[in-house]
Amino acid sequence: MDKGIILAGGSGTRLYPLSRVASKQLQAIYDKPMVYYPLSTLMLAGIRRLCVISTPHDLPRFEDLMGDGRQWGIELTYRAQPEPRGIAQAFLIAEDFIAGDPVCLILGDNLFYGRSEISNYCRGFSSGGLIFAYRVRDPERYGVVEFDRDGRVLSIEEKPRQPRSSYAIPGIYLFDGQVTEICRGLRPSARGELEITDVQKVYLSHNQLRVAPLGRGTAWLDTGTTSALQEASNFVAILEKRQGSKVGCPEEVAARMGFIGLDQFDALVAAMPDCEYSAYLKDIGQEMRHVRPAPPTGAGPV
Ligand code: DAU
Repeated sequence: MDKGIILAGGSGTRLYPLSRVASKQLQAIYDKPMVYYPLSTLMLAGIRRLCVISTPHDLPRFEDLMGDGRQWGIELTYRAQPEPRGIAQAFLIAEDFIAGDPVCLILGDNLFYGRSEISNYCRGFSSGGLIFAYRVRDPERYGVVEFDRDGRVLSIEEKPRQPRSSYAIPGIYLFDGQVTEICRGLRPSARGELEITDVQKVYLSHNQLRVAPLGRGTAWLDTGTTSALQEASNFVAILEKRQGSKVGCPEEVAARMGFIGLDQFDALVAAMPDCEYSAYLKDIGQEMRHVRPAPPTGAGPV
C-alpha cells in the first residue's frame, strides 16, 4: 500500500489552554511537532502519498509546516474536516484521494516506536481490514478487540465499561478500497460521530477483519492529555539522549528510506537555522555518506 491518511483534527479540549495556541497535533513532543511522529511511522512503512485532515482553522498551519512533501520525497495533500464528526468521516473526506485503493489511516496523536511490525503489515496488506491490538492496563479508554488463540476476532467494542479483553485497538488502521462505501452506510453513534469501530464491525461481519497483536517490543503512546503529552516527551527525550538518534524525524526517514538523495538532504539541512535539530541532521548526513544506509525495515531508531 502506498496511501495514508493522517487525521489531525478534533477540538483538543483536553489540552486547553494549550489548544488555543496551536492544534493538539502541532504541540511539541519533546523536540518536534506531534504530527511528525505518525508521519514518520507511515513513511517508514513505505507510504509516500499522504492526505492530512484537520480543521479549517488549523489546516493552513499544517500546510505551512509540511508543504507539499516534496522536500521529503513524498506527496502531501490536505483536506478540511469542518466539524469533528468521527474518525470514520476521514474516509469520506478523503474519498477522491483514496480513489478505491487500500489506505492506512493513522491518528495524528498516536505515537508508535519500535520494531518493524507495523511496517511489515502495511507492506504486505492487500485486501479486507486490519487492526492492531495492544495490551494496556486501561482498555476501557479505547476501542477494545477480543480475539481467540487463532487470532480470530470475536468482538469489537468502543470504550466498553467492562472490557472483554485487555487489548486496545491503537489508532492505526488498514482498509481496502471498500472503506468509503462502508462509511457511507454508517449511521452516527449516540455521541453524533461516525465511529471507527463501526467500520471494523462491518469488515468483521463480512469475515474480512484481521487483527495483528503488537508485541512488547513496540511502544504505543497516546498523547491526548497534558500528562500523556508530558510522558510522551519524556519517553522520546530518554531515547534520544541515550542513543543519540532522533525518533520521528521526517528528514532522516526520507534519507534513510531513499525517498531523497543525499544532495537533496544536505540542501534541506543547509536551509535550516543553526540549532540542535540541524546539527543532528548534519551529522546524520555525514554518517550516511560514509556508511551504507540502514535497510528500510522501519526497525531502526528513526
Ligand atoms: O487512540 C486510539 C483510539 O482512538 C481507539 O482505540 C478508539 O477506538 C477510537 O475511537 C479513538 O478513541 P479516542 O477517544 O482517542 O478518539 P478521539 O475522539 O479522542 O479522537 C482521536 C483523534 O482523532 C484526536 O486526536 C482527534 C482526532 N479526530 C477525532 C474525531 C472524532 C478528528 O480529527 N476528527 C474527529 O472527528
